[in-house]
Order: sequence, then structure tokens, then C-alpha cells
Amino acid sequence: MTDQSACDHLATDRSLLSTKAYGTGQHLAARQSLYRWQTPRHDLPGIVVNELAGARGVVADVGCGNGKFVARVRETRPDLSVLPMDVSHGILGGIPGAVVADVQQLPIADGALGAVLALHMLYHVQDQDQAIRELGRVLAPGGTAIVSTNSQTDKRELEHLWRQAAGDVLGIQEGPARVQLSARFTLEDAPGILGTVFGEIRTIPLPGVIEVTDAEPVVAHLASYEAWADKMGVPFRETIERARERVNEIIQAEGAFRIGCLGGMLVCR
Ligand SMILES: C[S@@+](CC[C@H](N)C(=O)[O-])C[C@H]1O[C@@H](n2cnc3c(N)ncnc32)[C@H](O)[C@@H]1O
Repeated sequence: MTDQSACDHLATDRSLLSTKAYGTGQHLAARQSLYRWQTPRHDLPGIVVNELAGARGVVADVGCGNGKFVARVRETRPDLSVLPMDVSHGILGGIPGAVVADVQQLPIADGALGAVLALHMLYHVQDQDQAIRELGRVLAPGGTAIVSTNSQTDKRELEHLWRQAAGDVLGIQEGPARVQLSARFTLEDAPGILGTVFGEIRTIPLPGVIEVTDAEPVVAHLASYEAWADKMGVPFRETIERARERVNEIIQAEGAFRIGCLGGMLVCR
């Protein structure tokens, strides 16, 4: 395997995704919680609800994870029928009406949906073109697909921190990069990939800065990659402990540790 195909395999390995990575919502929640320290705060479920203003009938949330978006759409749009779906049975635990399904082969009839959500999940999919054809196939004419992902520049400081900490542990200047999940479907590449099926794509950029004065949320975020721990080429726990020390040093010297973020949503018709 080349480095790139090895990395692709790690991000898309279905048995890993449905067990260690997303067998429960624990790691996803740790990753999501870092955004509590972001300025400005973006209300992602609120943005989705807003974009669903004209939607009618059934809305599927494919790769719904711990159901954060499902809950908000159900609460604010009781007129819609929400269908939660994910490849991981375990993460669907408490979500009423959820179905185990793969976005590459949706158990949904042609044209059956008013809208479909695929939020921060297409980078985990092996055949993205097939997944996007499926998103288009299940939509009724005039229906909307809402997709989200991160920019290739997102959280660069975290990548830098990891490589520095890994280098310290290995006794070299810079250690190997972490498994990069969203690198397989970046905000920059997404319009081109989605454009094979959708004629109209509007990007909503969501920039921000995370600023922490305590290393813990950063450590929790790094630790949420535990599913890939034995693939990082460096002792995982030791690297996290070294990262904690580095973040504390920066906080002591500068008052805070800052991370630049750029995520975005793509509204497709
Ligand atoms: C990063 S989480 C995002 C969860 C949620 N959409 C959110 O934005 O909070 C990715 C989710 O996609 C699911 N997933 C990965 N590959 C999938 C596939 N081929 N079909 C359906 N779901 C998939 C994972 O199990 C995981 O729950």
C-alpha cells in the first residue's frame, strides 16, 4: 500500500469505524466539545434548520453519529419526518427510529426525500462518487442535500503540536503526522466532487478561533483519535502527555493556546 492508500484505508475501514471509532458517541463528543472554546460560536444544527426552511416530507441524516442534528431538527420541525442513519449500530443506541445503513447504498427509494444531510462523514466513505450519486438519487426534484466538512487549513496548530510532541517522544525534530480524517474530503475539494451530481452548490464558510487556557480540552481532542492509536507510528499515550506539557508551556508563556478553525457547509440542489 502507498502512504495515501494506507491513510485512505484507515479513514474508511468500516469495521474500525463501527467499533473503536464510532462504536459509541464518546470520541465524537470529545471532538465536538473543543468547539465550546471557539469564537465565534457557530450553531451548526441551527444553520441546518435554517437551510431546511423550504423542505417537506422526509429528511434523512446519513452518518448521523450521536444524533445532535436529528434532535434539533425533530425539536424545531415536527412537521418533518427525520430518518437517522449510520453504519455504526452502537452509536445509534438512544436515537429513536434510527437505521443502520451505508451512504454508498441507501435503503431508500428514488426521489423519496425532501432533504438529506451528510455532515462531517463523506471523508470516511470509500467510494465518494457513489455516495454522492446516492444522495442525488434519493432526493425528490428540488430537494436539498446539506454536506459539511473542514478546510485543509483547519486546526493546523493541532497538527503542528502533534508532530512536535511525537518528535520529542521519538527524539527527532518532527514526528509523523496524525491520521488526517477530513483530508479525504476537504472544503476546498468538496464543490468539485459534489458538482458531478448537483448543479447548484453554495458554500457557507464557518471560520473561528479556539482559545483555551487549560490544556484539557486539547488533550481530550487528541485522545479522541484513539481508534487509530496503533497506526500513528509513535506511542500514542506518551505523545499525548508530551502534547499536554507543550500546551501548558504555551499557556504559561502566552496566556492561551490558540487554534485556527475553518469548517463549512455546502448546500446542494
Ligand atoms: C465525524 S462523525 C459525524 C457525525 C454527525 N454527522 C455530526 O456531524 O455530528 C462521522 C459519522 O459517519 C458515520 N459513517 C462513516 N462511514 C459511513 C458510511 N459509509 N455510511 C454511513 N455512515 C457512515 C460514522 O459511523 C460516524 O458516526
